[in-house]
Amino acid sequence: MNFKRPPVIAGNWKMNGTSEMVIQFSKNILKRVLDDNAKRCEFIICPPAPLIPLLYESASQSAFLVGGQDCHSSESGAYTGDISALMLKDIGCSFVIVGHSERRISYNEINSTVKLKVGAAKKAGLISIVCVGETQDQKNNGETFEIVRSQVLESIPESASDSDIIIAYEPIWAIGTGKTPEIEEIANVHAAIRDVVAKSKGVEVAEKIRLLYGGSVKPDNVAGILSIDDVDGALVGGASLSSNDFWSLCENAAKLFAILNRKV
Ligand code: PGA
Repeated sequence: MNFKRPPVIAGNWKMNGTSEMVIQFSKNILKRVLDDNAKRCEFIICPPAPLIPLLYESASQSAFLVGGQDCHSSESGAYTGDISALMLKDIGCSFVIVGHSERRISYNEINSTVKLKVGAAKKAGLISIVCVGETQDQKNNGETFEIVRSQVLESIPESASDSDIIIAYEPIWAIGTGKTPEIEEIANVHAAIRDVVAKSKGVEVAEKIRLLYGGSVKPDNVAGILSIDDVDGALVGGASLSSNDFWSLCENAAKLFAILNRKV
């Protein structure tokens, strides 16, 4: 964690939640006052699209920001069931997750599709959280660095910079499984991603771009993961669904930020 880069904790509800859940979150989390250390951090919730307006209504009076889980690469048109980046922006989103492995797998989204979506998000004024990560087989075959490198290079437009994108490293085998890589593995992959960004976009962008880790992040392992220098935050699935878990995860992260902040 490096305080030149504002830390980010993003919750991805995936296809879960109802308006009742938003009301619970609003009561349990959004109205709580964050201490000064937590204020340095960006806390984001990405609910399913129909819940965005309701969540935004409560979140707009809190420290929490709202994001979408995907967007189409076009602004509008005959794309039944899709949502454009512009529409997300219009209903209060500041962020959008793109290229999540669940979309890459279930909807055959390839790097070039993700790249178009990142471009559309930038045009709409949204920050993209671009997801990359290897499968279990690719990890077993020693292909992690190669896969992540090509995903970063091919999913991010040439014009995108540190103010337009956040990169989330999410090993697919760690998502929803309770398994996480060793701290050293996370550190190595994040350092490699920063290196790829330095070579493709320059050292200044690489120093400023925020890199998140995602995959089975919980209240009790978040501090260890965020202690890694090149990790600037977390993308959280399962543990973002319970307001108690998500709050303790955010609090544990904020406590760590306070300790780290005293060190820098
Ligand atoms: P998980 O999901 O925290 O439930 O592993 C992470 C993600 O898919 O972003």
